[in-house]
Amino acid sequence: MKLTSRSVSLIPLVATVAAAVLGASLIVTATANAATTLGAAAAQSGRYYGTAVAAGKLGDSTYVNILNTEFNMVTAENEMKWDATEPNRGQFNYSGGDRILNQAVGNGKRVRGHALLWHQQQPGWAQGLSGSDLRQAAINHVTQVATHYRGKIYAWDVVNEAFADGGSGGRRDSNLQRTGNDWIEAAFRAARAADPAAKLCYNDYNTDGINAKSTGIYNMVRDFKSRGVPIDCVGLQAHLTNNAPSDMQANIQRFADLGVDVQITELDIAGSNQANAYGAVTRACLAVARCTGITVWGIRDSDSWRTGENPLLFTSSGAKKAAYNSVLDALNAGGPGPTTTTTTTTTTTTTTTDPVPGGCTASVSLNQWNGGFVATIKVTAGSSALRGWRVTTTLSSGTVTSSWSANGSGTSGTVNWTNVDYNANVPAGQSTEFGFQGNGSGSGLNPSCAAS
Ligand code: XIL
Repeated sequence: MKLTSRSVSLIPLVATVAAAVLGASLIVTATANAATTLGAAAAQSGRYYGTAVAAGKLGDSTYVNILNTEFNMVTAENEMKWDATEPNRGQFNYSGGDRILNQAVGNGKRVRGHALLWHQQQPGWAQGLSGSDLRQAAINHVTQVATHYRGKIYAWDVVNEAFADGGSGGRRDSNLQRTGNDWIEAAFRAARAADPAAKLCYNDYNTDGINAKSTGIYNMVRDFKSRGVPIDCVGLQAHLTNNAPSDMQANIQRFADLGVDVQITELDIAGSNQANAYGAVTRACLAVARCTGITVWGIRDSDSWRTGENPLLFTSSGAKKAAYNSVLDALNAGGPGPTTTTTTTTTTTTTTTDPVPGGCTASVSLNQWNGGFVATIKVTAGSSALRGWRVTTTLSSGTVTSSWSANGSGTSGTVNWTNVDYNANVPAGQSTEFGFQGNGSGSGLNPSCAAS
């Protein structure tokens, strides 16, 4: 605003100055609230913003400066794939993957593991295998690589691109698929056993909106959940041109509703509507609490695997593009944070132990998640009223951290729980409940009840 016009009288000039100052202070306030990097902006809602990294570029200072400033999650672009990590059968090479992981962790970033099994970028020796020999080699690969990186990976793409394009909604033909339809669940079980802390994802492309392919994956995840096959997340690669699918948010939501996290794992967008489309993808993720983060597939346009399409957030010389501002603005506009509900299974086992005729029985309802549990124990009186009771549980690996409505004799191994004053009396055939929370596993509690 120009304040020097000689025709401006004193009073309007004062008013103008006041308005200018007010305007300035409003801008300052807005700036103070907005994060200025992608990672910090995503973190405001508990999410991450990541990029694919190539080990060979870690000596490029422009690349590394942007990486360290903007991103707080890293995926190895090629270095953790099967051909890189097991070039000869049973001989593992983690040099490139470790380099990327150490650079990331050393700069406070987390790492997505990509990818344990895929029909592409297999070493030649695996391409030549089939049947049970290939199955055994594949599962061993999952076990070895996930064990090497145990405890260091936020989420693994356990299986990549196993579904067919087109309308079938079925699996893609591949040497892995020909070992039997259960190869995916075998891989997930092996990954869980090797690294129980990593989230385990299924990752694919052309699955960003609702279509036959994403529905095939949806049905697989639902089946895995119903049968207790370990799966924690679905990756939508999001290699796009011009637009985000209009039903991307709905697609993310339907996966979230199955009880898995969703991540945008390899985002790049070509075309003249790029900036708008980047904003739309960001908003689709932010709108779903279980969409936990977004990863772009490279830093500068010159780093992209889509040569000549310029689909990334930075120009080849490292300048921020309009698409960058579109993402940053959308992240700063916020959204509900990722859910903190990490419950994975709820099972109920009932024991029929009744050591005293007319005594009592106990059953447990277990709410188990990765790393902890809540056990709710129901004490039911037999044919006579209880005047006091004792329940014995066995914690084979977990530890009790808190309890309610009973006194415990310890926190691990065999624990005896006795009633408190207000729940000692239980009429014949009636029930009372107590509970405890713990770390680790609450499976195998096997409660038994005795009148006391
Ligand atoms: C790409 C890499 O970016 C290229 O450097 C490599 O030559 C081929 O693979 N889906 C995936 C990624 O899951 O691993 C692919 O990465 C891109 C498509």
